[in-house]
Amino acid sequence: MRINRNYLQLPENYLFSEVAKRTREFQAHHPEMPIIKLSIGDVSRPLPAVVVQAMKQACSEMGASKTFRGYGPEIGYPWLRTAIADFYQKQCGVKLEADEIIISDGAKSDLSNLLDIFDPQATVAMCDPVYPVYLDTNLMLGRRPKFFRATNANNFLPMPNESVVADIIYLCNPSNPTGVCYNRAQLQQWVDFAREHGSVILYDAAYACFVREPELPRSIYEIDGARECAIEICSFSKMAGFTGVRCGYTVVPKSLVTADGVSLHQLWQRRQSTKFNGVSYIVQRGAAAIFTEQGLTAVAKHLAYYQRNVQMICQTLDKLHWSYVGGKNSPYVWVRCPGMRGAWEFFDFLLRETGIVCTPGIGFGTAGENYIRLTGFNSYANTRAACRRLLDLRQKKKR
Ligand code: MLT
Repeated sequence: MRINRNYLQLPENYLFSEVAKRTREFQAHHPEMPIIKLSIGDVSRPLPAVVVQAMKQACSEMGASKTFRGYGPEIGYPWLRTAIADFYQKQCGVKLEADEIIISDGAKSDLSNLLDIFDPQATVAMCDPVYPVYLDTNLMLGRRPKFFRATNANNFLPMPNESVVADIIYLCNPSNPTGVCYNRAQLQQWVDFAREHGSVILYDAAYACFVREPELPRSIYEIDGARECAIEICSFSKMAGFTGVRCGYTVVPKSLVTADGVSLHQLWQRRQSTKFNGVSYIVQRGAAAIFTEQGLTAVAKHLAYYQRNVQMICQTLDKLHWSYVGGKNSPYVWVRCPGMRGAWEFFDFLLRETGIVCTPGIGFGTAGENYIRLTGFNSYANTRAACRRLLDLRQKKKR
């Protein structure tokens, strides 16, 4: 039996499965300790009412012979693609054609599936630390990526240099896991670098909705030349509570072509129409409702709710004098383990002493060895309780 032996190069479990496993084990031994999860970026706010209403309506349509729908367009219904294009125009002045936007079941799948349209020998560069999906999916194909390290020395915003020349460059902005955000001038350097070397940037914009500072970019297409070198991947998971519903999209501009004139848009569309039957009508109706006035108001409230949690986490870290970055334009805070302890060691310490589950930075790459990641996605009450427990650590230390 010839299996894909590249899988044997992967860590035994996907990062968040490993965190969940260790949390379950801890709970089994310490049932008295109430757990608070500030680990995986899973949302806690329910879906906006307007989204639920749209999905209910769509469900009813599916139950009546006059309005029933079978297979939809593989790349998504035009009304959802148009709503997204209008949103880009209003939000950041970016003009996209609706059919440059291809609807999917989320950013994670698209980030992995996009690899299908590149040469198996294509070279890859990504940040360290990085969202593990980028690395694991390349390891599965037997690729050995190059890394650009995000460290204190470069303010966790590494810039391009000749050592990371590659066919595919992953950028996540604002960054998962560090929560920091490139500004326009920095992104321009990445775009110029990609164009100079004929690379494609896979730009993960899953957290763009958390950008608060107006001078920071929300889309890579705000940058000159990006339409010639970048694919933007985004999802409604964090923006509108779709982690369990599943819907996102990928923008592949029609102007993105290889040196010999092959359209990447064409390839992606070909890939999706062969391997994917599209997102359900019900889910797409729900997604389209996000872009109504009511939907956008509800989204703004959700984002403000999570931002308040993150702010509370940052204030707590300030009081503890723990060093961190992120949190300002992101739901994530990247915290240096006090005493430069190892990431899993500090994960265990926090779990044991406070019942808080974090994500160990090492799970995102070697540059994360002395870091943990915290999120603002839990409820306000749980986040407040977690912050109190963190502050209580000071008393425990004194005793
Ligand atoms: C994270 O915690 O990094 C994300 O929730 C993972 C994901 O979106 O798949």
